[in-house]
Amino acid sequence: MTDQALVELAFTMLECSYVPYSRFPVGAALEVADGTVFTGCNVENSAYGSTICAERTALVKAVSEGHRDDWVRLAVVGNSTDYCWPCGACRQMLYEFCPQLTLLVGRRDGQFVKLALEELLPHGFGPKSLQ
Ligand code: THU
Repeated sequence: MTDQALVELAFTMLECSYVPYSRFPVGAALEVADGTVFTGCNVENSAYGSTICAERTALVKAVSEGHRDDWVRLAVVGNSTDYCWPCGACRQMLYEFCPQLTLLVGRRDGQFVKLALEELLPHGFGPKSLQ
């Protein structure tokens, strides 16, 4: 799958977002080595802090299906003029499983930036830090 195709898949998830409070839909698509893609969207809650971001929805879908060490790329997009940069909690959760993960961060007009998770979370705290 091309980078663009993964970004487009993330865009299709915007319509699944449950965002009655922020009205800010986010979509994600996490590709693993065998080509399987785990999609995700943000799911908000009336107890606002219980909200789960799109990236973490995709992450927990992958891990709960046995994919924890074969991640390749994650696309995340919002319906916003700026790029939809992953929040701090998502950066940390992603780092746990794949510090080398490639990210495709997109914005409403379809443009996206390709970069490494370690660029967004340098010197991150992960499993190795506990050794
Ligand atoms: N959101 C995400 O889904 N991913 C991020 O990395 C940033 C924020 C969601 C959470 C909330 O539903 C909405 O965007 C506004 O913060």
